[in-house]
Amino acid sequence: MAIKKSFFICFEGVEGSGKSTQAKLLYKFIKKNITKNVILTREPGGTLFSEKIRNLILDKKTKISTLTEFFLLMAARNEHIISKIDFYLKKNFIIICDRFFYSTLAYQHYLEDMDKKFIFNIQKKIYKKIHPDLTFLIDLNNKESKIRISNRSKNTNRFDKLSSYHFNKIRNGFIKISKTYKNKIVLIKGSRSLIEIQNEINKKTLKILNARF
Ligand code: ADP
Ligand code: TYD
Repeated sequence: MAIKKSFFICFEGVEGSGKSTQAKLLYKFIKKNITKNVILTREPGGTLFSEKIRNLILDKKTKISTLTEFFLLMAARNEHIISKIDFYLKKNFIIICDRFFYSTLAYQHYLEDMDKKFIFNIQKKIYKKIHPDLTFLIDLNNKESKIRISNRSKNTNRFDKLSSYHFNKIRNGFIKISKTYKNKIVLIKGSRSLIEIQNEINKKTLKILNARF
């Protein structure tokens, strides 16, 4: 398929829902079957500097205020957008990003009760009118998320030990977000097998890319 314009795909959802796994699989699928011009990145992080900020944010030992955390997240995103996302969008790449702005709404607004307008105002400053073209939101319940997190090799971070009350605030926040942006977000049932989910994501991506290019 000849990709003449950039395309920005994001993966969102609660911890352990399978975002990183599916983002990697989609990256490989696109690289093999659609175009070599594809990159896989993540937030917070994605650049050398933003990965340093990520380590500060996820540090298990550090308790920081909600506002400090928000500004660190936005600083990491600003650098990520300027030096990576925008760069590859201009080169007409397909960009796959593990978490993006909907995570800010789910965590900073729905979990931490930060004012939505305030979040949008700051966001606008760093956005450069960049919006995901397509987001896969993987939904999973608290019980299954906990089992998966305890089984995975990746180190746990301070977000991985949320109470079920807090977990559900994030999960329900994501569901609300998927309703608000329903023509941009595909809600995926994360409790199914890896292959089933992968097939659905590949099929949907192909359909949308075919319609667009
Ligand atoms: P996230 O990035 O959303 O936190 P991961 O992709 O790291 O989630 O997945 C968490 C754990 O669950 C990993 O060990 C992964 O191998 C496993 N996993 C991912 N998807 C599935 C699935 N559909 N069924 C069972 N286990 C899965
Ligand atoms: P990460 O390890 O990437 O998530 P997961 O455990 O799902 O693989 O951790 C990133 C954490 O940062 C996650 O708990 C959500 C949080 N986060 C925010 O609070 N706001 C944001 O805007 C973003 C991008 C992430």
